[in-house]
Order: sequence, then structure tokens, then C-alpha cells
Amino acid sequence: MVTARKEAAKAMARVDLVIEIIDARLPAASSNPMITEMRLHRQRPCLKVLNKADLADPLATGLWLRAFSAQKHTKAIAVSCKRLADIVKIPARAASLVPHRDSTLKPVRAMVMGIPNVGKSTFINALLKRKVAKVGDEPGVTKNQARYDVNDRFELIDTPGLMWPAIAQATDGLMLAASHSVGTNAYIDEEVATYLATVLLARYAKLLTARYGFATETLDGPAVIEAIAMRRGYRSRGGELDFERASRTLLDDYRSGALGRISLETPQSRATLLVVKDDVNTTEGTAP
Ligand code: G4P
Repeated sequence: MVTARKEAAKAMARVDLVIEIIDARLPAASSNPMITEMRLHRQRPCLKVLNKADLADPLATGLWLRAFSAQKHTKAIAVSCKRLADIVKIPARAASLVPHRDSTLKPVRAMVMGIPNVGKSTFINALLKRKVAKVGDEPGVTKNQARYDVNDRFELIDTPGLMWPAIAQATDGLMLAASHSVGTNAYIDEEVATYLATVLLARYAKLLTARYGFATETLDGPAVIEAIAMRRGYRSRGGELDFERASRTLLDDYRSGALGRISLETPQSRATLLVVKDDVNTTEGTAP
């Protein structure tokens, strides 16, 4: 990861802009602060691509697009990299951030960045209409940088998925684990599923009822996992409820979209999270 970071920082000097692929279901949590730092250091504009929009709540995605587009030198677009019609819009949108470059003499040089598993390889393969980057649902599949000509006015630099060393917000780690952007060994499924259940209860309770057939009014996160195990008859050999299996079911149903279109955060929930964190820091820093 350290080498990948150094290589990315070097490549940043040679490109005109960054295409940052993020997950539309968790746009802030899936935005790597190291990427922002690197590109601001080099003053490179950014096209934020909110990918997997087919899995995200369209209302929340609309709010995120507005929030990102209000940032300096930034544009944002929501896509599904599984839809070619979405992908083909991206080069023109990216080029509009660097109008001085968009010609055959000075092709736009765009660097594709993002954390593991957000869909960088799917995007590149779809745009180039051939399989050059390996797609996989396990984090960290892309290993080396590579350069591709999309056409004679647009070049892409592909970079390995970059994670940052310390995730500041505990809930970001849980959102990333739920969405499969951090490896399966880093988190316990039951903990991640319980967090996911809590978010679903707060914002998408009807989807839980529709999928699993239980009422949610009296439930909390752990009780949702228990209710799934009961409904599905998941039991271990000794006859106890199998919470691990129920956790995996909830995570799989969220990841595949079987539960419905879900966003784990909105600009508002993000702002609230940061305010709460600032309050905690201020209190901790104040002498009694
Ligand atoms: P990466 O290079 O950033 O690490 O991500 P990659 O393209 O390997 O994509 C990771 C997984 O996300 C793949 O799933 C891919 O198909 C899926 N994916 C990418 N873009 C989208 C999208 O817009 N919508 C949805 N629903 N899924 C997307 P996979 O299960 O490994 O592969 P596959 O069986 O889907 O091909």
C-alpha cells in the first residue's frame, strides 16, 4: 500500500485530473482522504463518479450529487458501471473540467482512483470495451498502474485500489465492510450486520419487512439478526439459532441489492456525524 501510494502521488504530477470512483451507497465513507490530499496538493480537479447507483437510494444520491458539485473544482455524476450508456458519458464530463486539454494535440490525461472494490476495473473495461483490468468482488484485485487510450483525445491511468491506514470514524469502517470494500478478515460479519441492521431500522424498515416478513417496530439491531435466523430456520447442530449465518444473509442481501436500493449515509447524516465528533474532540481537549 505504501508503494502504491507513492506511485499514485508521482503519477498525479503527470495527469490533468482525477476520476475518483466512490460507492454511491456511502459516498463520503468510500472517499479516500489520501486521494483528496494528493490531488489538492497538485491542484488537480476531480470528477466524483458515484458508482453502483443502481444499488443506492436515488433520493440520497441526488443529495450527494448536489453536495459534491458545490465543492471547488469538482463535478459529480452517478452511474452504474454495469450500464454502458452511463459509462460513455464520463470522458466528456471529465474533459469539461480541463477545457484547455481537450484536443488531439493535448489529450486529457485522467487518473482513475478509488478504494478497492468500488468498480474501477469494471469501469475501465466497459469504457475500453475489452477486458484489461481484472474484476473481482474481493478487495484489492488491481495491482499495478497502467495507461490506456480511450480515443485520441482521452487517456486513462489506472491505479491500484488505495486504502488509507487509519479510518477515523468507526462507522465508516463498518459501512466499508458492509459494502465489501475492506477484506472479509478485517471485520466480524455479525458486528457489521448488526450495524447494518441498525441503519436499516432507522431508514429502510419497510424493506426489512418486505424481504424477511417480520414487523420491525420493537426490534433493535441484534434482534433483527435473531429474527432473520428464526424466520429462515438457521440453527446450528446443537439447535441454537445461527446468528452468523443470519448475518451473512443480511450482508449478502444488502450487497446484491436483493433488499432494495439502500444508501448508508446522506450529506445530512455525514454532517451530523462530523459535528458529534468535533464536540467529542472539543470536550476531550478541555481541562476539567
Ligand atoms: P475494483 O476494480 O475497484 O476493485 O472493483 P471491480 O471493478 O473489481 O468491481 C467489484 C465488484 O463490484 C464486481 O462484482 C463488479 O461487478 C461490481 N460492480 C462494479 N460496478 C458496479 C455497478 O455499477 N453496479 C453493481 N451492482 N455492481 C458493480 P463481482 O461480484 O466480483 O463481479 P460480477 O460477478 O458482478 O462480475
